[in-house]
Amino acid sequence: MKKVAVIGAGTMGNGIAHVFAQTGYAVSLIDISQDSLDKGIATITKNLDRMIKKEKISESDKEATLGNITTFTNTAEGAKGVDLVVEAATENTELKFKIFKELSEVTDDNVILASNTSSISITKIAAQTNRPDKVIGMHFMNPVPIMKLVEVIRGYATSDEVTNLIMDLSKNLGKTPTEVNDYPGFVANRILMPMINEAIISLHEGVAGVEEIDTVMKLGMAHPMGPLQLADFIGLDVCLSILNVMYEGFGNPKYAPCPLLVNMVTAGKLGVKSGEGFYDWSHGTKELVVSDSFK
Ligand SMILES: NC(=O)c1ccc[n+]([C@@H]2O[C@H](COP(=O)([O-])OP(=O)(O)OC[C@H]3O[C@@H](n4cnc5c(N)ncnc54)[C@H](O)[C@@H]3O)[C@@H](O)[C@H]2O)c1
Repeated sequence: MKKVAVIGAGTMGNGIAHVFAQTGYAVSLIDISQDSLDKGIATITKNLDRMIKKEKISESDKEATLGNITTFTNTAEGAKGVDLVVEAATENTELKFKIFKELSEVTDDNVILASNTSSISITKIAAQTNRPDKVIGMHFMNPVPIMKLVEVIRGYATSDEVTNLIMDLSKNLGKTPTEVNDYPGFVANRILMPMINEAIISLHEGVAGVEEIDTVMKLGMAHPMGPLQLADFIGLDVCLSILNVMYEGFGNPKYAPCPLLVNMVTAGKLGVKSGEGFYDWSHGTKELVVSDSFK
């Protein structure tokens, strides 16, 4: 494999393009929005500059990496002649179905189609294409250039050959791939989201306050940050949507999202991106919300 297309230049897409380009692949970075492409390239440039400062790469490595990336606003054009497509567009089922239907038409039958989806079934995405055996999940973690894990998700029809190829490719990118099967939440979110939900239930029931819950998990379990702060970083709307996928997918009440989470999302308290979630982020730092009434 030499040539890769990455669809979506947002948070994940620009990180995925960065990692492929730095490893020497020719990358077509595709987004419907020129503004997202410009911001994506600016983020990659900033992250490469940071790596130069830390003496991890040289100025010429930076130029080579940026030189490996070409941007496109048209999927058919960008996907021409690639060996692999990694889709990292907005998390929306209908949108992903539409993208994979188009990819199925505009790429050769031997091109592997991967999705970075956090929660949508790979089997369902694969069913939109003419090659379900060549559709697979490559679930990178945020921030992509730093985080080691790639959760490699086998859809119902994904072949052994394609799985092995993607496992090897992920290693070649300097990542540690882990193979999992296609069930709601895969493994990462199936374990993470119930923990976050339980932290919110503990807050909702008055067992402890925001800071207390996060301190217990940080200092007691050696987590780098508490579950409520992590939820603020991920986005409370994203947490709610993943919990709903698992709740509906398994039909098991243990995944039912806490009513406090539902209320906060309805009220537009989405975490860092909206300026307030379990913490107040509106001043650019983490502060306790004044109305946090636990004592
Ligand atoms: N953010 C995370 O922490 C994280 C972690 C793991 C996986 N994911 C998954 O990665 C994917 C992308 O998430 P993100 O956080 O980067 O989103 P984002 O909103 O930052 O970026 C999405 C990009 O997709 C573009 N887009 C929308 N429709 C498109 C189309 N038809 N063709 C091309 N581009 C299109 C948008 O313009 C936008 O730039 C989602 O499936 C998400 O579930 C996100």
